[in-house]
Amino acid sequence: MSKLIDPFGRTVSYLRVSVTDRCNYRCTYCMSENMTFLPKSDLLTLEELDRLCSAFIRRGVDKIRLTGGEPLVRRNVMSLFRSLGAHVKKGDLRELTLTTNGSQLAKYAHELADCGVKRINVSLDSLDAKKFESITRWGKLADVLNGLAAAKDAGLEVKINAVALKDFNENEVDEIIAWCGKEGFDLTFIETMPMGEIDEDRTDRYLPLSILKEKIRSKWDLKATSYQTGGPADYFTVQETGKRIGFITPLTHNFCESCNRVRLTCTGKLYMCLGQDDWKDLLAPLRMSESDEALMSAIDEAISRKPKGHDFIIDRPGAAPAVSRHMSVTGG
Ligand code: 5AD
Ligand code: SF4
Repeated sequence: MSKLIDPFGRTVSYLRVSVTDRCNYRCTYCMSENMTFLPKSDLLTLEELDRLCSAFIRRGVDKIRLTGGEPLVRRNVMSLFRSLGAHVKKGDLRELTLTTNGSQLAKYAHELADCGVKRINVSLDSLDAKKFESITRWGKLADVLNGLAAAKDAGLEVKINAVALKDFNENEVDEIIAWCGKEGFDLTFIETMPMGEIDEDRTDRYLPLSILKEKIRSKWDLKATSYQTGGPADYFTVQETGKRIGFITPLTHNFCESCNRVRLTCTGKLYMCLGQDDWKDLLAPLRMSESDEALMSAIDEAISRKPKGHDFIIDRPGAAPAVSRHMSVTGG
């Protein structure tokens, strides 16, 4: 079956799937404290998500990331990992991975590895237990550290995602870099993105990564690497630790031209760009019939609408979020 190629010649080979919009944490830059989540009856079943993913795999998608919300709080989500893992074992899916807050990894790390997951992204913004609690509102650092220990034990490669926040973890970056080096984890700093209403003004916490990078460079020897994911991260090797460090600056435009991804929500909406509101419904064509014909033409139509780039703007104080949905709807 033909590959998914958009009007700008980009091949779509990477599907990110938000399996739930719910999370057991309430990170202040991500969610408000009182979130209204989707009624469970609106969700695609795990079998439907599997059918959708399999359709994308037939169209050449070779990397799938499950995200959320927190993917590991969706009931029975391991059955989806299990069925997608079968594609990894068959060789038609190159990589199956997830982005998680780590809180459930103590329970699931070994099973994930058994399903064919090799690498995971774990969100962790502070190594200070009090700060960790204040940023996640409901989290416990010890749970994540236990989860990371289980992940290591299961042989999973770990990349830590830390959102760079002014007056929060700005002065902790050296400690985080050293800790990742010691633990053998790669690390990525992420700039805050204007997605969804939250309880505070994001401009108060906005820390441009260009500033953070210079600060890091004054203490650490960063060597540019050719490592490319098709994503918005710029990667270096920290010479002192041998581990990678990346900087995700989604607000710059320069990565859009290599964008290879689309995002599926747990209600079957396909978003063609993280920074745009346009989406295509895949639920109706999915449920219309048992054959995938309608679904395939809906996917083709969606890919033909993939935009050239996004229009995020964060530096206007008090500005409305550039996109109204929260990150937990589509995943990072
Ligand atoms: N801006 C930047 N990063 C965010 N994340 C969640 N919301 C935002 C936002 N508004 C991060 C999480 C996680 C990743 C999936 O996205 O911390 O690491
Ligand atoms: Fe949950 Fe991740 Fe959002 Fe934090 S950033 S509330 S862990 S989805």
